[in-house]
Amino acid sequence: MSLFSLNHISKSFGGVQALSDLSFELEEGEIFSVIGPNGAGKSTIFNCISGLYTPDEGSIQLAEKEITGWAPHRIARAGIARTFQNLELFRYLTAVDNLLLGRHIHMQASLLRILAMPFRRSRAAREEIAHRHKVEEIIEFLELEAYRDRPVFALPYGIQKLLELGRALALEPKILLLDEPAAGLNNEERQDMIFWIKDIRDQLGVTVIVIEHNMELVKDISDRVLALNFGRMIATGQVLEVLEHEEVRKAYLGEIPETT
Ligand SMILES: Nc1ncnc2c1ncn2[C@@H]1O[C@H](COP(=O)(O)OP(=O)(O)O)[C@@H](O)[C@H]1O
Ligand SMILES: [Mg+2]
Repeated sequence: MSLFSLNHISKSFGGVQALSDLSFELEEGEIFSVIGPNGAGKSTIFNCISGLYTPDEGSIQLAEKEITGWAPHRIARAGIARTFQNLELFRYLTAVDNLLLGRHIHMQASLLRILAMPFRRSRAAREEIAHRHKVEEIIEFLELEAYRDRPVFALPYGIQKLLELGRALALEPKILLLDEPAAGLNNEERQDMIFWIKDIRDQLGVTVIVIEHNMELVKDISDRVLALNFGRMIATGQVLEVLEHEEVRKAYLGEIPETT
């Protein structure tokens, strides 16, 4: 039994078939990359998995449970957290407040339930302490101590990307979905990001799906790769195999982007 599976997922928007009959499975603790040209349907995979979109067809399975059609906060609580292609941080709040708020927003249903029941206030207080404790752990783990009380807009871009990673991690996920974690990073920041992604898998045992254009990162971290074009899988397997696959080279017009 695999940790996670996507089974024959299709999703269209008007005339655009963003995903067609897409299936894959994840083993616990692996780093699985999704590559493909712009518009291939990569982010749509994450939007379906995280509950922002409901697939037209197919099912999504986490451990023994079918999670297809669940609301985003329920999926987050079941153990799937994500980052966004464009940063979704609160720019005028501090790093630490972004981490706390990230936890609250994604666990909103439980927070509201507790607030609605005054006799459970002590439980709410206990939960608040647990939230803060978790956030402090993340700050320590990602070495964000020096930035904790600074507003996001004043942080270097690489630290903002790391903070977004931290916000997803604060949900204590089993599976982490990273949408272009190295986009816009310089060489040094990208090396750091590679380190953190591996560290999250190695130290925390989190299973990772990463969408990325930077092939240096993909080659360095992936246990397996899936290549997508026009919403269909065109190749899957070991990273070098996939990058050399004829369909994949054609999809990129013979050029693998950003190899350095
Ligand atoms: N919410 C949406 N409404 C309409 N079209 C969408 C929506 N989301 C994605 N699409 C379309 O689906 C296709 C795949 O998009 P996306 O998954 O964002 O690609 P990628 O992340 O691989 O660049 C594109 O043609 C895109 O325009
Ligand atoms: Mg995308």
